[in-house]
Order: sequence, then C-alpha cells, then structure tokens
Amino acid sequence: MSSDAQSRPATSTGRRARKAVIPAAGLGTRFAPATKVVPKELLPVVDVPALEYIVAEAAREGLADVLIITGRGKSAIEDHFDAAPEIEEALERKGDKQRLSRIRRSTELARMHYTRQREARGLGDAVSYAEAFTGDESFAVLLGDDIIDERDVLLARMLDLQAETGGIVVGLIEVEGRFISLYGSIKPAGELVDGVIEIETLIEKPKPEEALSNLAVIGRYVLPPGIFDALRRTELGARGELELTDAMRVLGQDGVPIHGVVFSGRRYDTGDRQDYLRAVVRLACEHPELGADFSGWLAEFVRTLE
Ligand code: UTP
Repeated sequence: MSSDAQSRPATSTGRRARKAVIPAAGLGTRFAPATKVVPKELLPVVDVPALEYIVAEAAREGLADVLIITGRGKSAIEDHFDAAPEIEEALERKGDKQRLSRIRRSTELARMHYTRQREARGLGDAVSYAEAFTGDESFAVLLGDDIIDERDVLLARMLDLQAETGGIVVGLIEVEGRFISLYGSIKPAGELVDGVIEIETLIEKPKPEEALSNLAVIGRYVLPPGIFDALRRTELGARGELELTDAMRVLGQDGVPIHGVVFSGRRYDTGDRQDYLRAVVRLACEHPELGADFSGWLAEFVRTLE
C-alpha cells in the first residue's frame, strides 16, 4: 500500500461528492441466457439501456465524472457511451432530429471513465477499483442495474446528508421479512426522522430470522475515502465475495457515522426478471410516443386474463 493510500482521510465533510462510480462487472446469472453476450446493464428498458438511466441520474445530481467498472465481455458498455457515426449519419439523412438527439445524449451526459474488474469477486471488490479515480474525495456509488425513477428524489438527499456528516450514507427501502435475504439489513441506532435514520451496524443478505430490521440497503451509496482502507481490512463474506456491506460495517466500527435515507418511490431492480418486466411495462405506458397505444393494448390484454 502506498503512503498516499494509507493517509486517505476516513471521512470528509463540507463538500458534496462530485464523482460517481457505477459497478457493472457482475455476471448477471439471474438473467441468463440473455446475459451470455449482452451485459445485463445494457438490457433495454423500452428503448434506453438500463445503465443510461443510471448515468443520467448521476449527471442530474452534478456528478460530472462517472467511472464504470466493467469486466470481460462487457466492452459494449463503452461503445454505448461513445459516438455512433453510422447511425447518426443515417438519422441525419432521414431528418429524424428527435432520435438523433436521443442517440447523442449518451455521449453528452458526463465525462465517462472505465476500468475492468479482473474477476467478479463481489461488489466491495468492484468498488475497490475506484480508488485512483476518487482519491481523497467522497463519491457516490450507483449500481448498474438499479433504476430509481427520475421523478422520485433519493440521491440528492443522500449527497446533501453525506456532505454534512462526512460519513457513509446508504439508500434504504422497507421490505417484507421474507425478502430481506436478498439485501443488506441495517440495525437502526435511533428513530426515523424526516426519512433519515442513523445506523448502528449492517449485515449482508441475512436469513429472515437474522434480519436486523425491515430496512434493506438498495443500490445507492455515498462513501467517504476511508472505504478503501476498510475494504483492505475486510475478510471475504460467506459467498466468497468481498462485500461492500462488510467494509461499511468495518468503517462504522472505526467510529465513522452511517446514515440511511428511506426511499418509498419507484425503483426497479433490472437484474431481476420480474422487476425488469415491471419496469418495461410501466415506463412503456408512460412513454410520450408509445404510451397511449401501448396502455390501450395492455388494458385489453389484461381483460383476456380475467
Ligand atoms: P448483483 O449481485 O445484482 O450482480 O450486483 P450480479 O452478480 O451480476 O447478479 P446475479 O445474481 O449474477 O444475477 C449489483 C451490481 O454490482 C455489480 C453488478 O454488475 C451489478 O450492477 N457487480 C457485482 C460488480 O460490478 N462486480 C461484482 O463482482 C459483483
């Protein structure tokens, strides 16, 4: 470890994070065989890949530098955020200005950076690849398959809170007990006040009977630079992966404050087939061009199921 890495501050207060890290190197086994060749982060939600919604969310919050953690077989991700001159020329010839601006949007959202996780060894391992990119600054982590509807606010509150505390801030949702084993589970240190809760500790994917509460961690985090040292001090979890949840617990044990912002808006885990389908149907119904016809068809179709 370099002396530079050793001297990274555990916390950083006063300044809103300016960089985003999007881990997108997972194998997407729940969505196989679709994910054999196409990264799950690029599966389209109507006509835009899931990952573009997430980069757009980061950009809306002023996170102008975005690092995507990719892996083997995922180079199409870089291509998506690059120019596509042949398609652009074809659209120009057709005079389709609207689609032209939509295809160019992905190249204009943020300054894009990429690095490759050598093996899919867990979310904590993926985040550890961001150290040189974020340096001594706090940063946001947005999971590459977790879409938060742009009309519902979460990340802005998390960034503001983290600038105040300098510690860790995670996004939370309330889940029914039997679903907690899909998520990280938190033990509150106090009451929920105005949607914010202080966290005593947290564990990854507990059995329902071992859950610490019904509050589950979702794919939004704002982390201080001390997380990298904590990741180095964290042992592999039960799944043989380096868990981000475990590293956050280590940092919490050092006295770094951990808070959660409870989210009750629209969210889609597009790595899960059911949730992916819900996202596509819902956003298709609301789509400015497709919505009216599609929802008419859907209402008819639902009647045939009754
Ligand atoms: P998931 O656990 O949902 O991704 O990780 P996964 O491992 O691809 O899922 P399944 O269970 O096999 O279907 C959440 C996010 O973290 C990234 C994933 O790409 C996803 O965006 N991730 C996960 C990594 O970047 N590296 C990893 O080692 C694991």
